[in-house]
Amino acid sequence: MDEPIVEIKVRDHGPYKVTGPVRLVDADGGVFEVPEGRAIALCRCGHSRTKPFCDASHKAAGFDDCVRAGDRRP
Ligand code: FES
Repeated sequence: MDEPIVEIKVRDHGPYKVTGPVRLVDADGGVFEVPEGRAIALCRCGHSRTKPFCDASHKAAGFDDCVRAGDRRP
């Protein structure tokens, strides 16, 4: 059986939307509670008051980024 695929979508002007079974941990290995079976949104603008989760602060902050897959290399 194939491993489930985790998809991380880079949303225009917004968060990383993570879909799939994930384990989200802090720097000490502590596990964040995440809703089972639902996508989560991780902040990539730096303005969230609930990091690592997105709280929609990117809108008020005017976060502007529409990167596409071919634009950057790791
Ligand atoms: S991406 Fe939404 S608050 Fe940062």
